Amino acid sequence: MASFKEMCFTPAEFAAIAKVDRHSISSLEQRGLLKTVKRRMGNVDRKMVTLEDMQNYFRAIREQDLTQGDGATAAGPATPATEDIQSVAAATGFIPGIPKNKIQMFYNVKGGTGKSTLTAQYVMRAVMMGYNVLALDLDGQGHLTVNLDILDAHERPTIYDVLINDLPIHEAVMNVAPGLDLIPANLGLCNIEIPLNNKSRREYRLSEALRKISDRYDLIVADTNPAASILNGSMLVATNLVNVVCATNPLSFHGMTLVMATIEGMEREFDKKLEVKIIPNMYDSREVISQEVLGELQAQFPDNCSRSVINRSADLNEATKRRTTVWDVSSKGTAAHDMNSLTDELLSG
Ligand SMILES: Nc1ncnc2c1ncn2[C@@H]1O[C@H](COP(=O)(O)OP(=O)(O)OP(=O)(O)O)[C@@H](O)[C@H]1O
Ligand SMILES: [Mg+2]
Repeated sequence: MASFKEMCFTPAEFAAIAKVDRHSISSLEQRGLLKTVKRRMGNVDRKMVTLEDMQNYFRAIREQDLTQGDGATAAGPATPATEDIQSVAAATGFIPGIPKNKIQMFYNVKGGTGKSTLTAQYVMRAVMMGYNVLALDLDGQGHLTVNLDILDAHERPTIYDVLINDLPIHEAVMNVAPGLDLIPANLGLCNIEIPLNNKSRREYRLSEALRKISDRYDLIVADTNPAASILNGSMLVATNLVNVVCATNPLSFHGMTLVMATIEGMEREFDKKLEVKIIPNMYDSREVISQEVLGELQAQFPDNCSRSVINRSADLNEATKRRTTVWDVSSKGTAAHDMNSLTDELLSG
């Protein structure tokens, strides 16, 4: 089993992720937008795209778009390079540019709604797209850390050391893969609430620490613990976008009133406006109750509900078990499709 940083994609998998026609891969190579390598599989050499080649592809698309796309369209006829970008963009619906909300968190005071699972898949998808990402595990259970295949977190510093023991934040950052850094978590983080409560400017400490390293990243994404804790409150102060993961079952829906009230309370206390996205998860179109809860979520929170709905899928459980991505499990499966759509939505607003 390859770790995330060693992941390699077949042309068909690359095409599904980049949302291009798989027959256009040779043409992308000729145009210098994509590099591939030959890997021995059994007794045949197969064309593969490494994680870094995938990242470089997305970066090349973005760079060309930023330097040539808008200007050329406004100034006159499109050059061959801008035609490349326009045809790729038209085919993919891909939204170039830097993420609209640099700091994001996955949140719900209710446990088990899928926060850590979606955070890990979102983070890895953004890394595949060539963004420099910092993943931040704010849950002593350390599930984001484990989902990113880091198993020795008990020996590593966590955000506890930064917020309580004044460890410089860059010393708590570890590299997981090209473009992906992590501040891991371990059980010790469960003891942070009392010492954090006794610190001055307690809710601002995390924002102030993150500010010191935020220039290094395009995107910072936190997974949080299932509680209305001070640590989560600190992340609400630091974040631009709150992604509330709500399972499409009645108790999760019931808990949404408390979640929204908590967020509104933070907005009032810290005089800040937060963008909130509610992500319906574990949807099962065959279950009437799932349909009803989705309908009620969309009716009650029309401005906040994400367009993307994450279906219940064994691929997400399988990815969690194998500590890998849903694209590794099945790049054309429902979970990969749902996560592609969610990633595009969360990066663009
Ligand atoms: N869409 C889905 N389809 C199938 N299984 C899912 C889906 N989303 C999450 N799961 C599974 O649900 C379980 C709980 O998910 P997860 O640990 O991500 O929830 P959580 O909200 O982070 O929990 P906690 O509140 O304890 O941190 C995991 O086994 C995960 O694989
Ligand atoms: Mg979790």
